[in-house]
Amino acid sequence: MLKSLSCLLGIAASAMFAFPQSATFDSAAKVFRLDGGNVTYVFGVNSRGELQQMYWGGRLATGDHFAQPQPMREVASFDPSYSTTPQEYAGWGAGLFVEPALKVTFADGNRDLVLHYESYSEKPNGFDVVLKDIQRDVRVTLHYAIDPETGILARSATIENHEQQPITIEQAAAAAWALPRGHYTLNYLTGRWAGEWTLNQEEIRPGARIIESRRGSTSHQANPWFAVQSGEPSENHGEVWFGALAWSGSWRITVEQDQLDAVRITGGFNPFDFGYVLKPGQSLEAPVFYGGYSDHGLGGASRLLHHFEVANILPHRIGTGDQAHPKPRPVIYNSWEATEFNVNEAGQIALAEKAAALGVDRFVMDDGWFGQRKDDHAGLGDWCVNPQKFPHGLKPLIDKVHSLGMDFGLWVEPEMVNPDSDLYRKHPDWVLNFPGRPRSEERNQLVLNLARPDVHDYVLGFLDKLLTENDIAFLKWDYNRNWSEPGWDQLPPTEQKAIYVEYTRSLYSILAELERRHPKVEIESCSGGGGRVDLGILKYTDEVWPSDNTDPFDRLTQQDGFTYPYTPQIMMAWVTDSPHWLNHRATSLTYRMLSSMQGSLGIGANIDKWNDEETATAKRLIAAYHKVQPTIVQGDLYRLISPRNGSEFSATQTVSRDKRQSVVFAFIHSTQEQRGFPILKLKGLDPQAQYALTPIEGKAWAGTPEVASGDWWMNHGLEMDDDFRGDFKAAAFELDRR
Ligand code: GLA
Repeated sequence: MLKSLSCLLGIAASAMFAFPQSATFDSAAKVFRLDGGNVTYVFGVNSRGELQQMYWGGRLATGDHFAQPQPMREVASFDPSYSTTPQEYAGWGAGLFVEPALKVTFADGNRDLVLHYESYSEKPNGFDVVLKDIQRDVRVTLHYAIDPETGILARSATIENHEQQPITIEQAAAAAWALPRGHYTLNYLTGRWAGEWTLNQEEIRPGARIIESRRGSTSHQANPWFAVQSGEPSENHGEVWFGALAWSGSWRITVEQDQLDAVRITGGFNPFDFGYVLKPGQSLEAPVFYGGYSDHGLGGASRLLHHFEVANILPHRIGTGDQAHPKPRPVIYNSWEATEFNVNEAGQIALAEKAAALGVDRFVMDDGWFGQRKDDHAGLGDWCVNPQKFPHGLKPLIDKVHSLGMDFGLWVEPEMVNPDSDLYRKHPDWVLNFPGRPRSEERNQLVLNLARPDVHDYVLGFLDKLLTENDIAFLKWDYNRNWSEPGWDQLPPTEQKAIYVEYTRSLYSILAELERRHPKVEIESCSGGGGRVDLGILKYTDEVWPSDNTDPFDRLTQQDGFTYPYTPQIMMAWVTDSPHWLNHRATSLTYRMLSSMQGSLGIGANIDKWNDEETATAKRLIAAYHKVQPTIVQGDLYRLISPRNGSEFSATQTVSRDKRQSVVFAFIHSTQEQRGFPILKLKGLDPQAQYALTPIEGKAWAGTPEVASGDWWMNHGLEMDDDFRGDFKAAAFELDRR
């Protein structure tokens, strides 16, 4: 489940060897213990035979032992112990009133499922623990693996039916996490198209807060991540328990506080409209639910997740073995906002020439190049080059892009079809639908049923052909609507709901097979912006498109929210035209560049219209970005001042993992009453080392030393120039260890 540690983890990886035993089982007390990073996780078999959660928090001493867990006592006849005992994976039965991990219906109508411990086996950095119903032969294998560096746990479950008759799974979680009684704040992300990544912070109160997608994919509206903080929210201090679900289909995370104030977080497949039939001998694998702990506030939790994603989730395209790691994203140019559907050979070549002159590494042609695609009414599904727009195929454009020193990327939307397409005319039965019922179109398109083997093969086939016949380094894989009428009429009526699992599995299998056949091709997960960003899709994709909203001011808040769960490594950020199409806000090119430079930089403006000064500014800042990019995208991120809640100022800082370099970004919305920018007390530097300050853009206060200790920058802080005032202003600095 966990990929090998990357070379990026230098110092921390050696710490791993200080704790060779990350998974231990005390057979007398029946207690399982997992240790990794700064974290210990403990669970055991209680006296009734249930698997009970015992401890999740800061690392305990190796010699610390736990006695066998005891179930909660019955406080009242209305609080059955089965329900109040924090079970690792509770079946719905025996009077369970909290969220079940698993709910099934047997062929004879029985719906009672009580899971007891059966056996365990060891595996790298963890265990497989088998539970079985007290009577029926339904087994659940719980998978546990702890990352030795970050202490992030990967948990999942495989449900097997060994009965003689089928069973129907109505609800299946990946895992349930339990926290002791306490006062907590829940952090979670919600949004909408062009407004993704809003951080919500609220006190956990009795009852359940459900975060979910019922849409067939991850969604813009909520993201499968949570962070629960002890007490009030704090960026730098306090205990935080967090988790992220690796699933790109409909999902649900339930955060509930029971009547005894204990908190549980259960997540997995969304039980809404769910029903997965397991025939005798069949099994269902739940997604992986990753969970971690930090005692350095929300910032600490984010940094752990970022490093975990870079080391263990994202495709490792460069280096081999332990040295393999994801490469910082090439600086791209994308044609979408400049030309929309109106692409052709001459126009794209003209843009490519301008892009190359700026120092761009990759040229990406967006929507419009295929079939009868003039606008969004036609063409999806017909993945052949449009002969009017590209009379000689894609080769002349790709060759030109290569001769300019860039590689070439292409937009595709493989899972969709326009009714006005040859594919739909030939295969109207290939889309999600309930026969005889209307098929709701969104953006004039329907969703292909990827769960069908023929559709799977078609999609894999055309993508393989496209990548085999053309020298394409990168695909922007788009997905521009959610499901409706999710029927799968090839299957018997009772089995059709399997689509919620099989569609996503088919998507993953296409991505995995493409990676096998074309290991160098990189992929972006885009879904009308940030509609498909989760740790499931990130195993197969190198980057994501966080939002169609490229307004540089809006992006500051979106990027802030995005980085709670996700690393800046994958956070594509384009510089586009001003005034911006969405808010009609005018900003300087420098402000736009610096806003995007906090993530993986791209240019999406109509550079045909840029004057010499704009070209020179972009060129200078792209060159500066190239120098510091690894620090920005794979370093430790500190959100120094949040842009949230209408803040006048905002700032971020990243520090390379070896602490040799740090990059600081500062933004002003609108200064008022001559208030100056707050002094930025930097973080994460080596206190004793000397760091030289170099402005990338803007100036520090005239009295700022050129070189000072880490202690100086962290305690005295970095002070901006007096003149750093006004509307939509930005500055950036680099600090290098002497
Ligand atoms: C989606 C994407 C955009 C662009 C268009 C093309 O909206 O998010 O970036 O690719 O599709 O149709």
